[in-house]
Amino acid sequence: MTTILKSKDILHVKDLKLEQISLILETAARYEKVMALGGRLTNMAGKVLATLFFEPSTQTRLTFETAMLLMGGHVVSVTDAKTSNSVVKGERLYDTGKMIDGYANLAVIRHMAEGSAKELADGASVPVINGGDGAGQHPTQALMDLYTIQKERGRLNNLTVALAGDLKNGRTVHSLSWLLGKYGPRFYFVSPQELKMPADITNSLQNDGIEVIETTNLEEAAVKSDVLYMTRVQKERFTDENEYERLKGVYAVNNEFLGKAKHGITIMHPLPRLDEIAREVDEYEGAAYFRQAANGIPIRMAIIALVTGNE
Ligand code: CP
Repeated sequence: MTTILKSKDILHVKDLKLEQISLILETAARYEKVMALGGRLTNMAGKVLATLFFEPSTQTRLTFETAMLLMGGHVVSVTDAKTSNSVVKGERLYDTGKMIDGYANLAVIRHMAEGSAKELADGASVPVINGGDGAGQHPTQALMDLYTIQKERGRLNNLTVALAGDLKNGRTVHSLSWLLGKYGPRFYFVSPQELKMPADITNSLQNDGIEVIETTNLEEAAVKSDVLYMTRVQKERFTDENEYERLKGVYAVNNEFLGKAKHGITIMHPLPRLDEIAREVDEYEGAAYFRQAANGIPIRMAIIALVTGNE
């Protein structure tokens, strides 16, 4: 048993060392194999996961809850932020964290405000996992993205990866670029000028010697890339609806576009998708986004087990 992640909050990918990332990926692969062989896990029996979702989610909440159930654990949940918790009455997340200690062995939070997971973690003694905080971070999504890239491409090193769409507001691309940056990629950051990757992320990667090519031209990037990671324009982060309407359809991947991309390119998307990937692309062998979504189960099983010391 290894304890390098025991009792650790997972708030930002920058807090994770390479050996911790490797352990999560290896543990996920082990659990996936056990389940594929029809095995049953009971390592979280008698333990409780609290999921606190103040913003909508399909995938993150369902995969965390399923992961816990598949390991024999239990789940308590805040699913309607307006009625099923006391934050609406003014309760501070710090105090929620103090209370969670009495009910659960770990907690996952999704919230519209950057820094919210940290506030919950400041109050809680049990591990807190950031399930997405505003336009900030989504570390467990980045870990399942990494796991997916490793499975689809057979390696993590020396890949050319294009991140495309709303790079300003998309927390998944913020987390993934930090995390993948540890493996020496070449990046294309593809976005309209208004939705560029935050400069602190781009500058930090470049200071670490990583090649980052910023462009508005998706085709230019797709011709050269092993992986194309599409994202939707994040309507909920816009204050000006006209601006959203102007930018929302800026990129679209369809079969005609695939014909111009690098042969065998892997297409990923954190989901939900809108119009940035046409449904016809689902039939393409390299369309990995639903496999990527399924990879959330073993990755989140691994994270739950490792931070609670029950792997
Ligand atoms: N990728 C992702 O975070 O999806 P949900 O918003 O459905 O959880």
